[in-house]
This record gives sequence, C-alpha cells and structure tokens, in this order.
Amino acid sequence: MFDAIVYQDRRNKLRSMLKSGLIIFLGNNESPMNYPSNTYRFRQDSTFLYFFGLSMPGLAGVIDIDNGKDVIFGNDVDIDDIIWMGPQPSMKELVQKVAVIETYPMAMLADVISDTIKRKRAIHFLPPYRAENKLTLEKLLVIPAASLKDKASVELIKAVVAIRSIKDNFEIAHLDEIMSIGYQMHTTAMKMAQPGVYEREIAGFIEGLALSHGGTVSFPVILSKRGETLHNHNHSNKLAAGDLMICDAGFESEMGYATDHTRVAPVGGKFSQKQKEIYQIVLDTNNAAINAIKPGIQYRDVHLLAASVVVEGLKSIGLMKGDTKEAVAAGAHAMFFPHGLGHMMGIDVHDMEDFGENYVGYDDKIKRSEQFGTAYLRLARKLQPGFVLTVEPGIYFIPALIDKWNQERINSNFINFEKVNKYRDFGGIRLEDDILVTETGNRNLGKKRIPITIEEVEKTVQSK
Ligand code: GLY
Ligand code: MN
Repeated sequence: MFDAIVYQDRRNKLRSMLKSGLIIFLGNNESPMNYPSNTYRFRQDSTFLYFFGLSMPGLAGVIDIDNGKDVIFGNDVDIDDIIWMGPQPSMKELVQKVAVIETYPMAMLADVISDTIKRKRAIHFLPPYRAENKLTLEKLLVIPAASLKDKASVELIKAVVAIRSIKDNFEIAHLDEIMSIGYQMHTTAMKMAQPGVYEREIAGFIEGLALSHGGTVSFPVILSKRGETLHNHNHSNKLAAGDLMICDAGFESEMGYATDHTRVAPVGGKFSQKQKEIYQIVLDTNNAAINAIKPGIQYRDVHLLAASVVVEGLKSIGLMKGDTKEAVAAGAHAMFFPHGLGHMMGIDVHDMEDFGENYVGYDDKIKRSEQFGTAYLRLARKLQPGFVLTVEPGIYFIPALIDKWNQERINSNFINFEKVNKYRDFGGIRLEDDILVTETGNRNLGKKRIPITIEEVEKTVQSK
C-alpha cells in the first residue's frame, strides 16, 4: 500500500471536483466458483483501491462532499472468522492505514443512504459491473439493477477519470518496479518456446511466476502459435520448429497495478525470412508509434500513423498497393490490423474500462470512429503527461476475414488478395510496450525493454 496520506489526498482532490452530495464506492465481495465457500481469487474494485486502498471483501467507502468526512463501512471479524482465517486487524486499525477515522458496521450503510435520500441530497455512484454489487445498490438506492448504469453519476465518472488518468509519482515508481516481473515472464516464455513443448506448459509456468511474486496475471494469458486469433486463450497446441509463438501477458501486483506486453518468438530460435519481413514491419510500426507519443497529440493520430507504417511495409512486400494515405483513410489496413493501437493502463490493465470506454479514451472533442478497425480503438483522445498507455500494433492473417474481404471485394484496390492468400497459415504478430507520457515526450516503463529486435528475440530463445 502507499502511505495513508496518498489516499487522503486523492479523496480530497475528488471531493473538490464535485459540487455536492455523497459519493458511495462499493468494494468487491468474494465471488464463488462452484459453491459459495470455494471462491475465485479475491480482486478488489479498482476505484475503491485507488481512493481507499484496502484490499479485502465486505467494504464500502463514502465520501461526503459537503462536510469533508470520509467513512469506511465494514464488519470486524468474529470468533468463527478467526478460527478459519486466523487473527485479523480490527476495522479501526485497518482504516488508519488509509487515513480514515470513521468506520461503522456494514449494516449502517443502508441507514446513511436512506437518510441521504430523505434529505434529497445527491448520491453519486459509478456504474457497477458485478452482479452482487448491482443487487446491493438496487436495494440501497431503490433503483432497479437494470437502470443503475444509466443512473450512474456522469459527474463522478468524469472526475475519477480525470484523476486516475494522470498517474502520480508513487504509481509511476510502482509501475516501473513491477515491469521487471513482466520482463521475467516474457523472457521465460521465449526461452521455453522450443519444439515439442505444449503452449499450456509455458502459459502455466509464466502464470506461476506472476503468483510467485505475490500478485497474479493482469488478465488471462494469451499464448498461442495461432496468433491470428487476437485473444487466444486456447493453450492446447504442441509447438513445432518454425511456429511463431505469440505471448500477450502481464503481471498484476498486490496493489492491483498492471503490466501488459506482447512479444512473438520463433519456436526453436530462428525466424524464417517470411516471418522476419512481417515481424520487422510490426516492430517498425511499434517504434514509429512510440516515437510519436508526446503531450498534446491525439492517440487516434498515432493509431493512424501506425496504420500507415503497416500499409507502407505491406506495400514493400507486395501484399498491399496504391496510395498509403488513401488506403488508411479507406480502412484497408484493418484486414491485417483490425484492432486499436492501445489503451490506458494503471490499476486495471484496460484502465477504468468498467466506467465505459468512451469516458476514458474519448471526450467532447473526439468521438469514436465507425470504421471497421479504428472503431475498436480504446484510446483516441489527446495525450497528457502522466498517462500510461499501451502501444500494441499487429499484423494478422485471419483466413475468415481474408475470404470475406476477397469475396466482397472490400478494399480490393489496396490489397493483393492473390499474394495474401499465400500467407493464410502465417498466424499473427503483435508487439506491445507500456509507455508513460512525460512532459516532453514519453518513455518505456521499466528498467529494460523486453527483447524485441529480431536478433534480441532469437538470442533469448536460443539461450534456453
Ligand atoms: N493485452 C490484452 C489486451 O490489451 O486486450
Ligand atoms: Mn494491451
């Protein structure tokens, strides 16, 4: 945890941004896997973590905008809990860690809320994403669960996005530190990318690495020789020499902060010429995008720049043709690069996506594109110092998409389908880094960039 004062400062900042009323943050509860006492690993709600820091089930935080009070609701353990869980700190002790003075049993939250409703004071809450919290809020606020998303406080969402988007020095130092675990996960996966090894062995091993560092993975590991499937969680294939293994994986620290990188390794340690050509285009795209990142630039423009590097590269090997600018404007690159360049990252790997992507990645000045490909861009707005985001361009050969575009002659003036068809079994390549926007430009988070050049990756795979 950060020092208590960090959480107090964050709450005071939030309080100063809202006009009046009460803000309520529900923490998460245990979530059953197959029967109530057999639960998934507990994950605290990220916004609760950000403002109230405590990572345990059964808590709610309230910020009173008008009287300056912060309260945490939660129950002290009883003797039965102690028998099963061991001795636990009292609520009084816990709340001190986050500079909160007042704490009351959970049952009192309902009284506070109903009193606030009676007095016709505003109640601000964020859109709930877990079923249990939807039911709790439905009961507390007397709002049907199905309407909670629409009734959530836009004023609160915008204020929280404004605060959480700019990472403070404590967060940046923590992110820099945990990047070394992402580094270890990815270089280990590269070394394990040998013929005869099953994908599940590598996926399981690097997930274990994350657990061994006291955290977990920041999302289910994507690791496959079938990299053309963007989020491939099937790890059943046996690797063979000549395969390309994509690994998109990250660490989540005990405090909930994420890393998120993607690397592609040649199984056995040598890229073929064909693989090198596509790999180098993706690497050039990743580097060009990172070089363009600075305060004031719209991330959509960086995405479009990345698209134009992809088109230039694919033209150079005969897979695309025509004018690059026109091809990008027509969205022709999206048959190969059908997703966005990246997303905000912080406590969530896709930071604050629970509020709705448009609140985080878009604003009044930039609206989401409707064009296939660019429509999936999660972050488009102007960058500011303190943003942490991912840069993750890719080139994929998705047979079903190639066939659809070929049959419907979509962008056929920019794509050489005949040549593309020779890549149908190629798979996919994505290269992803985690970037901090600084006052003057940007920097890659962490001490060392995970091996990324063709030579570095081959050397790492060969160093098993
Ligand atoms: N790295 C997984 C994702 O960004 O969706
Ligand atoms: Mn990502």
